Amino acid sequence: MTGARILVVDDEPANTLLLTRILGAAGYRNVASTNEADEALEWFCAATRDGVPFDLVCSDLHMPRVSGLELIERVRAELDEDDFLPVLVITADLTPAAEEECLRRGASDFVTKPFKKTQIRLRVANLLRTRHLQAALREHNERLETAVRERTADLEDARQDVLERLASAAEYRDYTTGQHTQRVGQLAGLLAEQLGCDPTTVELVRRAAPLHDVGKIAIPDHILLKPGPLTSREFAQMQEHVEAGSRLLARGRSDLMAMAETIARTHHERWDGSGYPLGLIGDAIPLEGQVVAVADVFDTLVNERPYKRAWPVARAVDEIRRQRDRWFSPLLVDAFMAVLEANPDLVTLLERSVSREHADREQAAQRG
Ligand SMILES: [Fe+2]
Repeated sequence: MTGARILVVDDEPANTLLLTRILGAAGYRNVASTNEADEALEWFCAATRDGVPFDLVCSDLHMPRVSGLELIERVRAELDEDDFLPVLVITADLTPAAEEECLRRGASDFVTKPFKKTQIRLRVANLLRTRHLQAALREHNERLETAVRERTADLEDARQDVLERLASAAEYRDYTTGQHTQRVGQLAGLLAEQLGCDPTTVELVRRAAPLHDVGKIAIPDHILLKPGPLTSREFAQMQEHVEAGSRLLARGRSDLMAMAETIARTHHERWDGSGYPLGLIGDAIPLEGQVVAVADVFDTLVNERPYKRAWPVARAVDEIRRQRDRWFSPLLVDAFMAVLEANPDLVTLLERSVSREHADREQAAQRG
């Protein structure tokens, strides 16, 4: 405590001298004193700004220009709300109203002149101990908050990791990598952003969209991997991935799961009512379902599938445009075009990602 920085201000030089001597005799090594309250304020602000703040202010009450009360208020205004700076008012004003006013305005303690040395020593020691404990408590709280933040981030990472693996599990059988689901997530996020969704919704769409086809886990290999067109019975079975996915994701406890469920359930609905499973029309299809429908169709077109070759990006873009007012709402198609225009790198990245995936698949096929 003897290293504490103490600021003494009193317009009477005899008083500052006496207080400085008492504090010096008590072992305090860093005592600054002045007879000018505005100088005290300057010192206080400079010390706070320089990161070497005062730990205690001992101030007279009645001073010319800046009163003790004003000094307390201006000093408090310099500090964070949870920073406890003790202010000891030392005054010849013996009225109860003065003491009350000082304490009300934020003084920590009040001593009347003439005072005894021990009075000053004990009160200063008590106030400095309180400041020390308050600082230790604040530091402890900050450490706890950091630990909680880190733990929460760890849990969030783990949760995200599980979701990504769950999303890629569905396509693990028909594609060699989980890149399709991730690309659908990225594109769906960009579309949601383009449509003016708030940042939280954009992030939810981006993270929930990769789970759109998770229900394909339930589809047998002979249908999922069939190289040619599906029979109507097989197609009906394939359509069940929507129901399977929404069942798997239903009753989740988070906004993310609720959105993933909606997307899984509605990503094959079409604007003109030609989709499945319900044949919803227009805005009866949730926006997140519409967004993922565009992203999914586009990414599927530019990729190779067991039943089709990859389309060039330009042809796939034309197809999306052609489906305006048919499969997709004009709003979504416009948003898609705007996203492509605003992200010219996206097409290049997409082409690279698709050709890398193609090369991986070739290699896997050669290895048998
Ligand atoms: Fe699907």
